[in-house]
Amino acid sequence: MSKADLIVGIQWGDEGKGKMVDMLAQNYDVVCRSQGGHNAGHTIWVDGVRYALHLIPSGVLNPKAINIIGNGVVLCPESIIKEMEQFENLEGRLFISDKAHLNLPYHALIDQAKERLKGDKAIGTTGKGIGPAYAEKISRTGFRVGELLNPSKLANGIVDYFEQNKAIFDVLEIATPNKEELIELLTSYKEKLEPFIANTTNMIWDAIDKDKKILLEGAQGTLLDIDHGTYPYVTSSSCVSAGACTGLGISPKDIGIVTGIVKAYTTRVGNGPFPSEDFTEDGQKIADIGKEVGVTTGRGRRCGWFDAIAVKHAARLNGCDQLSLMKLDVLDGFPKVKICVAYDLDGKRIDYMPSDLNNVKPIYEEFDGWDNLAGARKFEDLPENAKKYINKIEELTGVKVGIISTSPERDDTIIRG
Ligand code: IMP
Repeated sequence: MSKADLIVGIQWGDEGKGKMVDMLAQNYDVVCRSQGGHNAGHTIWVDGVRYALHLIPSGVLNPKAINIIGNGVVLCPESIIKEMEQFENLEGRLFISDKAHLNLPYHALIDQAKERLKGDKAIGTTGKGIGPAYAEKISRTGFRVGELLNPSKLANGIVDYFEQNKAIFDVLEIATPNKEELIELLTSYKEKLEPFIANTTNMIWDAIDKDKKILLEGAQGTLLDIDHGTYPYVTSSSCVSAGACTGLGISPKDIGIVTGIVKAYTTRVGNGPFPSEDFTEDGQKIADIGKEVGVTTGRGRRCGWFDAIAVKHAARLNGCDQLSLMKLDVLDGFPKVKICVAYDLDGKRIDYMPSDLNNVKPIYEEFDGWDNLAGARKFEDLPENAKKYINKIEELTGVKVGIISTSPERDDTIIRG
């Protein structure tokens, strides 16, 4: 029996999980997604060809790997069909849980309308219908991928749902779909997706029993988790490692090595508290050098310093065995670098993350920077000040930094023994 290794985002998403899962996926037999939807996204270049992934696990670029989209994902048929067009012969290599919930075009309309109505209190969602799709799942009014196999029954269910909630849809200015057009649309989804719909729970148990190497690919990040993130400025899924169990149908005992992905600094897209955000030239410099623009929405990311309190908290929530420190080269050339080592809460110094991050201020320690480490592949080759920075992160978070990324290139990665 094997155990499934897990990659999880430790900050507000966009930590650089894409590079790590892409690199690691080459060595795994099965790669799985357990939560989120097409709000996630990363770009992978292989032999000069660009691939944009939102829902399909990164194992798709390893011809020998099987890719599973688990029941915890909300699946937008339009999005995955478009993504699938980038690849040939996915049959037998991609499987979608029949229990995953559908994210249909009206979910995006609800998402966007609700954000509009919230005005300056908007969450800053990706507008992709993620919240409404999960809300309907939890309120037991959602529709699942398996139901695509009977388009007319599904269309009836959707139209009934609209009639039952007509008053709400009227306020949101969303029209009831025309049944005939809906059947046509759902039939087109069925034609494209039917060969991929499966009971993925049994499939993953089988892989575990056969001692296959399994990688679980997290989306978004711990601080966006529906329970443990900066609510309500979060996404609607369970982004922590425990969510991978419910999102795939495996037990906590099936989880192997947990690697937390962190940037050497911090970024966040959308609204909500961000204690170590830097509003000075430094924040802008990080954004420019780090090319901090969202892959899915094209929005600029807010930037700031490494928050050791948040990372310590997130690492504990996930049970991280190690951290993978990404984009360390982005801090090249800064005369001083800062780490948030504690928070000030109403004049009191605290070294834990309170449930409400709105009223905390960062307390920083400042360190001497380094000139250039881009492309380094050995820990010994790093400048002394960069080593000190990494050691400090380990000391403050209590977790080993096992992997360090020094450029976007796959090979510019330090793996410490
Ligand atoms: P939603 O997931 O579209 O509902 O958006 C909720 C919040 O999560 C917003 O602040 C988004 O910017 C953020 N978010 C969702 N997906 C990602 C992601 O993949 N990376 C970073 N932030 C994300």
